[in-house]
Amino acid sequence: MAKTIFVLNGPNLNLLGSREPGIYGRETLIQIAARTEACAKAHGLGLEFRQSNSEAQLIEWVHEAGENADGLIMNAGAYTHTSIALLDALRAVALPVIEVHLSNIFAREDFRHRSYVAPAAQGVISGFGGQSYELAIEAMARLLGSKGKAKKKKK
Ligand code: DQA
Repeated sequence: MAKTIFVLNGPNLNLLGSREPGIYGRETLIQIAARTEACAKAHGLGLEFRQSNSEAQLIEWVHEAGENADGLIMNAGAYTHTSIALLDALRAVALPVIEVHLSNIFAREDFRHRSYVAPAAQGVISGFGGQSYELAIEAMARLLGSKGKAKKKKK
């Protein structure tokens, strides 16, 4: 059976396309989802691509991924910089996690340099626009393939 990756998107990412295009580009989240889906398919991976503005919903989806997915790609939006609850959720599930951002958070305001997702992630891909998601799929495919098994060890 194909391995399944959850791609979870946080607040305001539903507004991509019109939201600060100088920073995030003109691509909509629906277009990014389609590209990411095609990339996952090419790697033989199933994809569940979701967005919510609610921190609680994102946490519920992380828990669901822990039950039903083999890997998790997360763009937590601004919750990246604030949410210890999200960090705890990511740590609670035995899944490889890759953090993604469209913009390069390290080249922006100081408050964006801190990520509460990163300590639970295998790695961070930041600054490649919508392509960040495809790069994350690529990295996840290698991670799952090279480990030869779906789940990472519990810490
Ligand atoms: C973002 C970067 C965050 O700092 C910001 O709050 C976002 C989008 C990105 O993808 O570049 O909402 O996660």
